[in-house]
Amino acid sequence: MALLELIYTSLAKPQSSAENVKDILESSQRNNPSTGVTGLLLFDGDRYIQILEGDVENVENLFEVISADPRHYGLELLHKGPIVDRAFQTWRMAYEALPKGLLDSLAENIAVYSMESDDEPLGHGETIGARLNGMFMDAIAAE
Ligand SMILES: Cc1cc2nc3c(=O)[nH]c(=O)nc-3n(C[C@H](O)[C@H](O)[C@H](O)COP(=O)(O)O)c2cc1C
Repeated sequence: MALLELIYTSLAKPQSSAENVKDILESSQRNNPSTGVTGLLLFDGDRYIQILEGDVENVENLFEVISADPRHYGLELLHKGPIVDRAFQTWRMAYEALPKGLLDSLAENIAVYSMESDDEPLGHGETIGARLNGMFMDAIAAE
C-alpha cells in the first residue's frame, strides 16, 4: 500500500499552554496507533514541526483535522511525498528546552530539501523526515 510522508510547521497560539501540549500528546497517543500514523512532533514553545507517515488517506485525513485545530496558526506545508518505508516505527514527541531558533532553521532546511527531491518514493533512511530527525539529533547533541 502506498505510504506518504507529510511535514508541516505552525506556530502555537500565544495563549498556548503546557496543558494544550499535554492534550495534544494524549490525543496523538490515543489515535495514531489505530490509524497507523507514525512520526515526530517537535515543539519549542513557539513553533511546531510535525512529521506524519502512514497510509495516504490516514495521513491526509489527520492533517485536515490538525489544520483546523485552533491551538495553532500559520500552517505551512514543508513537504509531502511518497515513501517506500517509514523512518519512524512509532509516534513520538520532543519538546521542552529546545535551543532557540533551531526549529526555524530546520523548517527552512526542510523546505529546501523538499524542493530538491523528485517524486520517487524515498527509502527508509532517505526520507525527508529521517533527514530532519538526523539534523535535530545532531543539533541537540551539539548543545
Ligand atoms: C501541532 C498539533 C499536532 C497534532 N498532532 C496530532 C496527531 O498526531 N494525532 C492526533 O490524533 N491529533 C493531533 N492533534 C490534535 C488534533 O488537532 C485533534 O484535536 C485531535 O485529533 C482530536 O481527537 P480527540 O478528540 O481524540 O482528542 C494535533 C494538534 C496540534 C495543534
